[in-house]
Amino acid sequence: MNVLITGVAGFIGFHVARRLLQGGWKVLGLDSLNDYYDPALKRARLALLTPEPGFRFVGTDLADRAAMESLFAGQTFDRVIHLAAQAGVRYSLENPHAYVDANLSGLLNVLEGCRVQQVAHLVYASSSSVYGLNTKVPFTETDAVDHPVSLYAATKKSGELLTHSYSHLYGLPATGLRFFTVYGPWGRPDMAPIKFARAICAGEPIDVYNQGEMSRDFTYIDDIVEGVVGVLDQVPVPQPDWIPELGSRGQSSAPYRIFNIGAGQPVGLLDFIQTLERGLGIEARKNFLPMQPGDVARTWASTQALRDLTGFSPQVGLEEGVAKFVAWYREFYSPTV
Ligand SMILES: NC(=O)c1ccc[n+]([C@@H]2O[C@H](COP(=O)([O-])OP(=O)(O)OC[C@H]3O[C@@H](n4cnc5c(N)ncnc54)[C@H](O)[C@@H]3O)[C@@H](O)[C@H]2O)c1
Repeated sequence: MNVLITGVAGFIGFHVARRLLQGGWKVLGLDSLNDYYDPALKRARLALLTPEPGFRFVGTDLADRAAMESLFAGQTFDRVIHLAAQAGVRYSLENPHAYVDANLSGLLNVLEGCRVQQVAHLVYASSSSVYGLNTKVPFTETDAVDHPVSLYAATKKSGELLTHSYSHLYGLPATGLRFFTVYGPWGRPDMAPIKFARAICAGEPIDVYNQGEMSRDFTYIDDIVEGVVGVLDQVPVPQPDWIPELGSRGQSSAPYRIFNIGAGQPVGLLDFIQTLERGLGIEARKNFLPMQPGDVARTWASTQALRDLTGFSPQVGLEEGVAKFVAWYREFYSPTV
C-alpha cells in the first residue's frame, strides 16, 4: 500500500511513518522542514527514515499549489495522512499568517489532490484546541466546538469544515483526529516536556502558567500512532439517514468522521512537573505566571467513539511515558546533568 504522509519530519509524522514502514507500507513523506523549531531535529528524524527501503522524501511546502498539483499528478496513493501544519497556540499570536498559509491554503491543496486522484481515505490531524471555551468534560465529539480561543484552534476547526465540504461534494472519505497533548521521544521543542527538561537540566526556572492550575490529557506518542494506524482501514461511508439535528456532530451524511484521540486521563500541570522531576532526578525551580492568551485551563478526551470503532485503548501511563521521554532526551541532547 502507498501512503502520502505530510509533516513526515515532524513529531507525530515521523513516528507514524516509522510504524507504517515496519508494517511494509511504501511511504512518500512530505515536509518543508521549516524553522518554526530547530530544523536539525527534523533532519535527525528524517535521517532515521531515509535508509528504509520503502521510504521516499519530498521537500515541498504544502502551500505551493503548483508543486502539490504535480505531486498528486505524478503518483497514486491508497491513503493520505495529512499531519503537516503550523502548530503551536502561542506562536499564532505572533505570526498569524503562517497558520492560514499552512493550515488552510495548504490543506486545500491536499484536499484538491485527494479529489483529483479520488483517494480512498484521507486521515488528517485536528486538535483538542477546537474545544476552546467549552467547560463540560470530558470533551466529546458530540459537543459544539464554535468558540476557539486561538487562531491556531480556529484554523484547525476550519480545517474540519473545509474537509467536510469536500467529503460532501466529492464523496471523499475523510477521518479527522483531534489529538490531545502528545508527548514522548522525538517530541516538539516548543512543548512543555522539552522546554521544562531543558530548563530543569540547566538549573533555570520553568514558566508555570495559570499558577499551575491547569490540566492536560497527556497522550504518549505510541498510543497516538496506534490510533492513527487503527483508523486507516476504517474508511468512512456515507450515512444517508444521518440528520444534523439528531446525529452526532462527529459524523455526517457524507463519508466523514471525527474522533478524539487522547489518553482520557487528565493530568494536573504540577503533577506532570513532579513526574518529570522524578524522571530527571532534579527538582524544578518554578516561575508561576498568569494564564497565557490563547490557552485553555484543561483538556480531557472522551475516546469512547474511537474505542467503539477500533478498540483503541491507550497503554502507556504517565510515569512510564515520561521515563521513556527522559531516556530519549538524555541521549539526544546529552545535557551535562
Ligand atoms: N503534538 C501535539 O500535541 C498535537 C496536538 C494537537 C494537534 N496536533 C496536530 O498534529 C499534527 C502534527 O503535529 P506535530 O506535533 O507532529 O507537529 P510538528 O510541528 O512536529 O510537525 C509538523 C511538520 O509539518 C511541517 N510543516 C509545517 N508547515 C508545513 C508546510 N506549509 N508545508 C510542508 N510541511 C510543513 C513541519 O516542518 C513539521 O515537520 C499537526 O497538524 C498538529 O496541528 C498535534
